[in-house]
Amino acid sequence: MEVGLIGCGGMGTTHNLSLKALSSRMDVDVTSLADCRPEFLHKAVKQWPKARLYKTGMDLLKHESPSSVHICLPSYLHTKHAVAAMDKGINVLVEKPVCLTEKETEEILEAKKRNHVQVMVGQVVRFFSEYRYLKECYDTGKYGKLKSLTMQRISGDTDWGYEDWFHQEEKSGSVVLDLHVHDLDFLRYMLGEPNSFDVRATAFSSGLVNQIFTTYEFGDTFAVTEGIWDTSTAVPFEASFHACFDDASIVFNSQNENCLAVYKKDGTIEYPKLTREYDVKDDSSGINISNLGPYYTEIKYFIQCLQSGKEIEIAPLEEGIKSVRQGIKELKKAKDYISNR
Ligand SMILES: NC(=O)c1ccc[n+]([C@@H]2O[C@H](COP(=O)([O-])OP(=O)(O)OC[C@H]3O[C@@H](n4cnc5c(N)ncnc54)[C@H](O)[C@@H]3O)[C@@H](O)[C@H]2O)c1
Repeated sequence: MEVGLIGCGGMGTTHNLSLKALSSRMDVDVTSLADCRPEFLHKAVKQWPKARLYKTGMDLLKHESPSSVHICLPSYLHTKHAVAAMDKGINVLVEKPVCLTEKETEEILEAKKRNHVQVMVGQVVRFFSEYRYLKECYDTGKYGKLKSLTMQRISGDTDWGYEDWFHQEEKSGSVVLDLHVHDLDFLRYMLGEPNSFDVRATAFSSGLVNQIFTTYEFGDTFAVTEGIWDTSTAVPFEASFHACFDDASIVFNSQNENCLAVYKKDGTIEYPKLTREYDVKDDSSGINISNLGPYYTEIKYFIQCLQSGKEIEIAPLEEGIKSVRQGIKELKKAKDYISNR
């Protein structure tokens, strides 16, 4: 199966390494690559020496017709490329956030409607084994009712983006659509749409929102989230959750050696042994991601859906769009809160 990779920066490298690992056990071959920075293109082509190279994503889409493209461009370029790919009958895996504005959500949905293609959004938290474990406990009611859920996603300030795109709200959607969207998407995946939500936020001196706290009500469960790009780039990346069920609390912290623990009502502690189908760490993307496992699982799922003709159920376009719409509302509230202080 021919694949085109558009954008070979931080996330593009993660996709590229995962695709390479998958190619030893699946019919998948990256036959075209695009990046406007030659050094990134030359690094990517080392994995696929026969791939055809393009300076821009639109050039690749003009000349190539792979079965699918992975769009790993800065977020403000997702819509244009996803629509062009769909209009050529190419299946799409687009990184999160799928897009940034209401207008773009409509453009992308329209393009999907007029083409027979599959589109998946890289809401990768849906593929993390610890978050899957939490959802399984919730779905089966293993520990009773979920009373509350706290989630945090802490990152140092981003320092790697092409032309500093992360720091421009119209290009990244700020920390809200770029980072916090992971947790809000997972909440929606597990608990459905919130009945209500409220926001507190802070901004960098430039005015760009850099920290958001959101409290949500989902029926009789409430959730609190924090997403932050800290002022220092040195702050280590950390994702965590604390889920309080009637009979146990499930606690995850990506920084801990025993990162997932179940503290039961009877005082015992269990460390669930989760299967990790690909347990490889690689820091060569140059961003705050080293664990390739969940990306491998996500991309494998996408390819399996395409090759078997199965509908994408875990992170289809429509779900990514709903998370963006919720994120847009939260960003508006965050800006209102900051400007009224
Ligand atoms: N799923 C995750 O965990 C995760 C993590 C980080 C980033 N992301 C998402 O991945 C996307 C990319 O982020 P990143 O961190 O890789 O950014 P990046 O700036 O490191 O990479 C983007 C790449 O696109 C290239 N590029 C820019 N314009 C281009 C064009 N017109 N044609 C071809 N190449 C072009 C740049 O040269 C750069 O190499 C964003 O949407 C981001 O939100 C997802």
